[in-house]
Amino acid sequence: MSSHATPIPMTSHASGPLTGVAEVPGDKSISHRSLILGAMAVGETRISGLLEGEDVLDTARAMRAFGAEVTDLGGGNWSVHGVGVGGFAEPENVIDCGNSGTGVRLIMGAMATSPITATFTGDASLNKRPMARVTDPIALFGAQSVGRSGGRLPMTIVGAADPVPVQYTVPMPSAQVKSAVLLAGLNAPGQTVVIEKEATRDHTERMLAGFGAIISTEETDEGRVITLTGRPELQPQTIAVPRDPSSAAFPVCAALIVPGSDVLVPGIGLNPTRAGLFTTLREMGADLVYENERLEGGEPVADLHVRYSPDMKGVTVPPERAASMIDEYPVLSVVAAFASGDTVMHGVKELRVKESDRIEAMATGLRACGVGVKDGSDWWVVTGGPKVKGGATCASHLDHRIAMSFMVLGMATQEPVRVDDGAPIATSFPIFEPLMDGLGANVTRDTK
Ligand code: S3P
Repeated sequence: MSSHATPIPMTSHASGPLTGVAEVPGDKSISHRSLILGAMAVGETRISGLLEGEDVLDTARAMRAFGAEVTDLGGGNWSVHGVGVGGFAEPENVIDCGNSGTGVRLIMGAMATSPITATFTGDASLNKRPMARVTDPIALFGAQSVGRSGGRLPMTIVGAADPVPVQYTVPMPSAQVKSAVLLAGLNAPGQTVVIEKEATRDHTERMLAGFGAIISTEETDEGRVITLTGRPELQPQTIAVPRDPSSAAFPVCAALIVPGSDVLVPGIGLNPTRAGLFTTLREMGADLVYENERLEGGEPVADLHVRYSPDMKGVTVPPERAASMIDEYPVLSVVAAFASGDTVMHGVKELRVKESDRIEAMATGLRACGVGVKDGSDWWVVTGGPKVKGGATCASHLDHRIAMSFMVLGMATQEPVRVDDGAPIATSFPIFEPLMDGLGANVTRDTK
């Protein structure tokens, strides 16, 4: 998203029951990876169901800048003619990844082992986020980087002309860092080994195998050991992107708290490294049923049938589940506001370095709406009850998931909830407003 996007203040008013079918867009993580791996294959990759949100469109533009031919065929169908592993051209201009940490971190990894130089920037949110977590491991391959103080964008990466493979233990639970190292390993000779102590989303590993790379994952006492053989010729693929569980979270959570709701959210990817929110909601007593469970493109998929659940109770979310629901804590905190007792969330310090400090952003807005929240550096507790006052204007801090979470909150509060800027919603869920409107929600754009 452009750093100069005009803010869009929005208000969510209490609505009648939410009913109907919510067809959420394609998975953001899988969409980024489809474009990047398509650009690193030799020949034409076809993608259907691509998320056409700002974050992914920025990655599409970046892949063009590195020399791939990326074409929008209409209706969510895209074609990518890749340049092959090691075939990236040097971009003529600065690469603007907008709001997207996934985009910039994966692309930095992908270009780090090619003899080219690229400069990356983003919006005000992305330019505050830590990049040393990627520049540290790519330095081991031989790449150099120089950025602003604290390892922030804008940043220039000089790719390694003569890369060496690495063994790297990812110091924090991060699929972005794991993926950056694996993508860098593609153009290093020999075997690159990545070790993660906690399992994070595994779309990169699955997709690399699909593109024909030699990659294996072994569960050991040290954690998951992923071994990739460098310099494969990646074979172009036909990819059907499943619908995004992180976007499904919004209509699902809204239906749970709006009286009388009954919503079907079809075709949601339930990869265990992504489905922690739904497990937690069911533990809280949510009426959430997986229907028509099936496998699509090697990923578990189901239709989520969700009904209003007035008797939910707060739970303690185990820290080892955090990675599988890291983007869903903001909207979980909204459901927790309507569940009786405390919802306790530990082991979540990564939430403080997302598009915003998500604990701070949600805690401030929830408190302003009359909800009890306590927080520390890597934990927070939300105390819920049957009625939530609302009536506040909450800051979204350029964070799509914060904006959407407060809009969901306002669907069930006694007074409307406002966000100062809903423009970031377009980064991941461009049809959020018409989709929620179609279910019966009442979200408006404010004119002043
Ligand atoms: C993502 C990984 C997660 C997540 C982000 C998408 C990915 O970030 O929050 O929205 O596609 O790899 P971290 O790797 O920083 O945990």
